[in-house]
Amino acid sequence: MNELENQLEYIEKCRHLVEQISKEKKRPLTACITTFGCQMNARDSEKLTGILKRSGYLITEDENADFVLYNTCTVRDNANMRVYGRLGVLNGYKKRNPDMKIALCGCMMQEQTVVDKIRQSYRFVDLIFGTHNIFRFAELLYRTLIEGKTVIELWQDTDQIVEDLPVERRYAFKSGINIMFGCNNFCSYCIVPYVRGRERSREPDEILKEIRKLASDGVKEIMLLGQNVNSYGKTLSYPISFAELLRRVHEIDGIERIRFMTSHPKDLSDELIEVIKTSPKICKHLHLPLQSGSTRILQAMNRRYTKEGYLALAQKIREEIPDIAITTDIIVGFPGESAEDVDDTIDVIRQVGFDNAFTFIYSKRTGTPAAAMEDQVPEDIVKESFDRVLKVVQETAKNRASLLQGRQEPVLVEEVNEHDPSLMTGRMSNNMLVHFPGDPSLIGSIVTVSLDVCHGFYYFGKRVEQ
Ligand code: SAH
Ligand code: SF4
Ligand code: F3S
Repeated sequence: MNELENQLEYIEKCRHLVEQISKEKKRPLTACITTFGCQMNARDSEKLTGILKRSGYLITEDENADFVLYNTCTVRDNANMRVYGRLGVLNGYKKRNPDMKIALCGCMMQEQTVVDKIRQSYRFVDLIFGTHNIFRFAELLYRTLIEGKTVIELWQDTDQIVEDLPVERRYAFKSGINIMFGCNNFCSYCIVPYVRGRERSREPDEILKEIRKLASDGVKEIMLLGQNVNSYGKTLSYPISFAELLRRVHEIDGIERIRFMTSHPKDLSDELIEVIKTSPKICKHLHLPLQSGSTRILQAMNRRYTKEGYLALAQKIREEIPDIAITTDIIVGFPGESAEDVDDTIDVIRQVGFDNAFTFIYSKRTGTPAAAMEDQVPEDIVKESFDRVLKVVQETAKNRASLLQGRQEPVLVEEVNEHDPSLMTGRMSNNMLVHFPGDPSLIGSIVTVSLDVCHGFYYFGKRVEQ
């Protein structure tokens, strides 16, 4: 029996158990998954939800449920703190519902110190597993339901990719697709390679098959996911480039928009720029993390490009594809960062004119090379630099956004506006949001909207007939 069949059998076993328990309780059993972290985790949660749903659970957003799973992130310390804080709340629920099961998975669980702490101080947790054995969730769920003691299964790494397990998509009209797992870059501040393991790519045929299936289910927009999509395919027995994968994805009927995340500047090829430029379905948005604008800091970060190299790349992209939005990630307060280094970062922000940027305060991750570096920057200085960087980021983002004033743009309608139910929220090709009067029947369709009033990061507009 292969691994897929094995897990499908466990789903069946879980279904019988869940059915039996809900008969006893005379109500359906509920399950809630809370996701922390990146798009990769969000996609994993869709797979975990698929398994819970097939096992007979009613999926809810309410954490006061019969089965609660936290899919955790550990990229910065505040992500960890949030999990510990919320676990206390879960314990309160469990006291009122002793049959409740609490499970933890994801990147945080790949750290031994975290698991030790949970075993010691959070003994009410029923199941712990990690990122490498996530495909075994059905089996672990079954064991948790029958064993009555904490189940812990953690793997150090894996080369297995199990295809075709059930998934439950959050949106009907768009979906993420993993094209690769893990990371080999070892940027000196980053914990991801340690908790997600070595880089491995999915077979292109498996990816294309999954996307064709999504297209036949009505999905219009897909996001190809990987920590460094530009190095896709290098580990395959028949290597292909990321650009070539995009060309093949582009041919799939029904898919109208293609996005991808994340591009490492050091691996961004001319071939990729050419494919983005010449493929109408590929969205005009590139997330190109800068991290720092100082060559000295970039070197200490092990990013393997220089300030000048990044600037030249960004300029080439803007020349070739003038409409493209370039967004980025920036870390402030890396060990040894001086005011001049921050000036360099600000200089790059101004020269490139980012359409948006996520600015993070450096967080020391135990076990990474940067954690052992001398010259950790004091908090007050980091705060000052952070504010300086943020101010310029907001300036350039606003300038870039205002350039679109008065244009008419196709948008994929995603949801009812959070604050005003008479408005719908749509996403443009360049990833910017626009809010406009409309009704929920538009969700999932692509309509044209005029960009009337700019509010910095987003627009208000009106639907225009085409
Ligand atoms: N693979 C992607 C990013 C993954 S993590 C890439 O290489 O671009 C997402 C972002 O978190 C990173 O781009 C970085 O800006 C930030 N980050 C990672 N480790 C961090 C740390 N220790 N402290 C602060 N920010 C960090
Ligand atoms: Fe982390 Fe660098 Fe890998 Fe991105 S490329 S996940 S920042 S090690
Ligand atoms: Fe966080 Fe893991 Fe993603 S550490 S950012 S959830 S890969």
